[in-house]
Amino acid sequence: MQLFLRLVCYRIKMKEKLAKIAQAAEAEIATAKAEELEAIRVKYLGRKGELTQCLRGLANVPAQERPQVGQLANQLKHKLEELIETKSGSAKTKQLSGLADKEWLDTTILPTKHLLGSRHPLAQLQRKLEAFFTSIGFELADGPHLEDDYHNFEGLNIPPDHPARDAHDTFWLKNGKLLRTHTSTVQVHILEKRKPPFRIIIPGRVYRYEAIDASHENTFNQLEGFMVDEGMSMEHLLGILQTMLEHIFGCKVKVRFRPSYFPFVEPGAELDMGCLLCNAKGCRTCKNTGWIEMLGCGMTHPKVLELGGFDTHKYTGFAFGIGIDRLAMMLHKINDIRLFNGADLRELRQF
Ligand code: FA5
Repeated sequence: MQLFLRLVCYRIKMKEKLAKIAQAAEAEIATAKAEELEAIRVKYLGRKGELTQCLRGLANVPAQERPQVGQLANQLKHKLEELIETKSGSAKTKQLSGLADKEWLDTTILPTKHLLGSRHPLAQLQRKLEAFFTSIGFELADGPHLEDDYHNFEGLNIPPDHPARDAHDTFWLKNGKLLRTHTSTVQVHILEKRKPPFRIIIPGRVYRYEAIDASHENTFNQLEGFMVDEGMSMEHLLGILQTMLEHIFGCKVKVRFRPSYFPFVEPGAELDMGCLLCNAKGCRTCKNTGWIEMLGCGMTHPKVLELGGFDTHKYTGFAFGIGIDRLAMMLHKINDIRLFNGADLRELRQF
């Protein structure tokens, strides 16, 4: 009777132990992340695992009880193995399907069209002009956009109260400075620094406080040319300008030179081109004249050369200021200058 009781107690103890292992292991498996499952397997089913130890302890169980307790322990072992297997299987499936979602690729989609940018038509023309002038020996220079009265006017023989100032509607700043109204300002900077002979071009933006229309902008681009050497004449100046136009348009173009007044040149002239938008018949862009003004030019006034301290008997010079926007209008047959500063990319993408 005593032996029977001992056996029953032993069985109950083992059962409780197995139940505790089962409870703890199942709870851990249920809440474990995929990467934690292996550690749980080792903890319970590994060589020194809790359940393995239990199974080893079967040797000490009385022979009559061994089959029953052994069966229980083995059942638990298989159950835990299965739970771990199922959980890690579904975690892997989840991981793989996540990967598939992330790396999904539709090979039937047509490639995206990448729109390549292009240089603005004014920048294109500026580069073409630079290439032409540098090919005949002109240097490229730059100058400040924010100027003082001296460089924009006085140094160019335009003293205060001179009527020529009216032609330059100026953006004045509160500190007495101004936005340059023409690239001729750089002539004064050059005279301060250089000795003849020199031939220089200065392309750049200029600003005028004026009403805009089809051929007038308040922010536009000029290309200044300034050459000082011995024996320079009006013939050289006109020859260079005519050759430049033939180079840009690739053919002879209809031009006329008109005498004009700029205080910093003497004599002065303006070059008009036959309007290519209306074949010189007259339109809104050329204000029904058939002609459109492209540039101002002339022989540098001795007073300006004297500012540089040059011997005006020995050296003569000429200068010109080309309106790049106007030239681009003729080149591309554009009837409104405002298009260049507009934001309509459909227009600009044509160039
Ligand atoms: C000048 O600016 C002189 N500095 C040019 C010059 C240089 C003369 C060297 C003599 C010697 P003018 O204001 O005319 O001149 O402008 C020159 C050119 O710029 C014009 O022929 C025209 O093509 C262009 N231009 C003038 N005003 C505008 C404007 N509001 N919008 C677009 N282009 C303009």
